Amino acid sequence: MAELAKPVRLSQTTITELMIPSYANFGGKIHGGILLSLMDKVAYACASKHAGTYCVTVTVDKVEFLQPVEVGELVSLHASVNYVGRTSMIIGIRGEAENVKRGTIKHTNSSYFTMVAKGDDDKPSLVPKLILETQEEVKRFIEAMRMKEIKNKVNEQMDDAKSNIEVDNAAVLLKAERCIINL
Ligand SMILES: CC(C)(COP(=O)(O)OP(=O)(O)OC[C@H]1O[C@@H](n2cnc3c(N)ncnc32)[C@H](O)[C@@H]1OP(=O)(O)O)[C@@H](O)C(=O)NCCC(=O)NCCS
Repeated sequence: MAELAKPVRLSQTTITELMIPSYANFGGKIHGGILLSLMDKVAYACASKHAGTYCVTVTVDKVEFLQPVEVGELVSLHASVNYVGRTSMIIGIRGEAENVKRGTIKHTNSSYFTMVAKGDDDKPSLVPKLILETQEEVKRFIEAMRMKEIKNKVNEQMDDAKSNIEVDNAAVLLKAERCIINL
C-alpha cells in the first residue's frame, strides 16, 4: 500500500482572537504567555490535521515578540506544516495584530513549534509525507531542514558548555562580569 501523503494547504490553520483587557499585563500590553498559549493551540490544530492523530509539543523556537500587542487588537496566528520527519513536524507560525480602527496590521512574531504525533499506544507514530505544491513550500521545507541541523549542533555545544565548569577559576573568568562572588 502506498504511504499516505498530504499537501501543506490541507492542514493550514488560522486562529483569530480579540485581545481583551484581562489578557493585559501591568503595563497595559498583552501578556507574552497569552500569545504563547494561542500559538500552542494553533500549532496543535495544524499538526493534528496533518498527522490525523493526537500530537504533543516538543520544542518551541524563535519566540520573539517584535512589537507589543495592545488591548482591542485582533491577533491572527497563521500556522503551516513547514517540514515533516518520521514522527515529528515543524510548524511555522506567523503572528499578526490588526488594529481595526486605524486599519493597520503589524507583524508580531514568526515562531517554530516542533510537534510529535502520538498513536493510541502513546508512542510516536508515523506522519504522512508532505506534498509541496509551491516554490515557497519547497523553500520552507529546506529552511526547516537546515535550521534543524543547526539546532542539533547548538544543542551539542550547549551540553559541552554545561560540563567541565571549574568554579575554582571563576574569579578570573568572571572578572569583567557584573557579579560578585561571595562563597
Ligand atoms: C516528544 C516525545 C514523544 C519524544 O519521545 P522519544 O521517546 O524521545 O521518541 P523518539 O526518540 O522516537 O523521537 C520522536 C521524534 O521526536 C523528535 N524529537 C525528540 N526530541 C526532540 C527535541 N528535543 N527536539 C526536536 N525534536 C525532538 C525526534 O527527532 C523524533 O522525530 P522523527 O521521528 O521525525 O525523526 C516525548 O519526549 C514526549 O512525549 N514528551 C512530552 C511532550 C509533552 O507532553 N508536551 C506537552 C508540553 S508539557
